[in-house]
Amino acid sequence: MTDVRTDDHRPRKRVFIRTYGCQMNVYDSDRMADVLRPLGYGLAASADDADLVVLNTCHIREHASEKVYSELGRLRDAKSERRAAGGDLTIAVAGCVAQAEGEEIVKRQPAVDIVVGPQAYHRLPELLAEAERKAAIGRAGKRLPGAGVLDTDFPADSKFDHLPAPQGIRAGSAFLSIQEGCDKFCTFCVVPYTRGAEYSRPAAAVLAEARQLAAAGAVELTLLGQNVNAYHGEAADAAGAWSLARLVRAIADIAGIARIRYTTSHPRDMDDDLVAAHGSVPQLMPYLHLPVQSGSDRILEAMNRRHGRDLFLRLVDRLRAARPDLALSSDFIVGFPGETDADFDDTMRLVAEVGFAQAYSFKYSRRPGTPGAALDGQVPEAVKSARLAALQALLGQQARAFNESKAGLTVPVLFAETGRKPGQVVGKTPWLQSVHADGPERLIGRIVETRLVTGHANSLTGEIVTRSLEAAA
Ligand code: 5AD
Ligand code: SF4
Repeated sequence: MTDVRTDDHRPRKRVFIRTYGCQMNVYDSDRMADVLRPLGYGLAASADDADLVVLNTCHIREHASEKVYSELGRLRDAKSERRAAGGDLTIAVAGCVAQAEGEEIVKRQPAVDIVVGPQAYHRLPELLAEAERKAAIGRAGKRLPGAGVLDTDFPADSKFDHLPAPQGIRAGSAFLSIQEGCDKFCTFCVVPYTRGAEYSRPAAAVLAEARQLAAAGAVELTLLGQNVNAYHGEAADAAGAWSLARLVRAIADIAGIARIRYTTSHPRDMDDDLVAAHGSVPQLMPYLHLPVQSGSDRILEAMNRRHGRDLFLRLVDRLRAARPDLALSSDFIVGFPGETDADFDDTMRLVAEVGFAQAYSFKYSRRPGTPGAALDGQVPEAVKSARLAALQALLGQQARAFNESKAGLTVPVLFAETGRKPGQVVGKTPWLQSVHADGPERLIGRIVETRLVTGHANSLTGEIVTRSLEAAA
């Protein structure tokens, strides 16, 4: 969970945006802030000093959506207190819970003023105006014409056509959304329902935004999409349709862009050209998040992943042939319906065979409306917990070993923020590991040569090479 908060000046109104879930949501929260800025909304540091609170929600697992309802309970209390004191608090629910549950949210928590799906953020100004009108009617003692203002349509055109230019460069790094939605329909996943059909932004628009971000000081771009390597921007010239590989090469040609990353990928969409780009484009960082979910052919089939264990293992070989130091990350689900001990062993064997630099792993969470929720053979909670613990122990060992294997190297680190200890800065290696080093704040947003000294479970300790300190003076 991340909170968008900064404040340079005191605008007329303040919004606090709380972001749950994936990087797509982090990006969308920045875009909502961009939409609200012209209405006079600055960013508040917390809900306590906000006029408007937006919860940008995640629906991917059950506990993610339950957290939203408990937060809404707290906000309802805050709203009542404000009203008792003659003020008000506007509450908006955005993101995938908004999309999936729509009016249910207002029924369950009537204090909510606005429910807005991920495709409709450009309509926030209108929704706010309507919510304010309804609140005024309510204050005048008249019956409310239905609480809550709802927009969860999937419009024919893209929200990108309506949103203002992005401003979200953080310490030299920016997200660039190039693709949304998903047509894969994995049987456990809500994304095709909450984010809609797969859509690729035209390459010309993506490249224009990349140039704008570079001119504004971005040195690292992370290309975002729910299924980013399915990217197929419309044909812009004689060379035909744009693939992700072609887009990566074009972005690498933009002056100032030193690092390119992309996330999240599907193994089925890693074409030869993209694999080759990992070897031939130096700006493409040697890190790839490639969810596999399971190592069992039977479970992969039941998940509708459209590939087997062997395709994944061969793909890893091809990627490593192109880029031998590639760090691999993945997502895993344990306890999918019907998963036996033997299936789980297949997952453990796949992990042992590949060796991941880091990974995310989850217990299967039954999501209403997905085909998986209706399957027989739901796995008991205790079995899921035991499998998750075993998998995480192995993944944890691998992550530590990967970090330790980099000790002794001197590598470029992009510093992103100050550390917990005074005088410390924290940045990322090319393999997306966190590095803590003693150094001045002026290094934030810069790529600086750093000697990696010690690898830990989740990070490394480093020392900034003296000559890069001098160059940054
Ligand atoms: N249960 C558990 N994990 C899930 N994920 C998606 N849906 C579910 C679910 N129903 C995980 C997948 C995906 C990641 C973003 O979240 O591993 O890759
Ligand atoms: Fe969900 Fe599967 Fe699409 Fe990923 S590829 S967003 S897991 S449906």
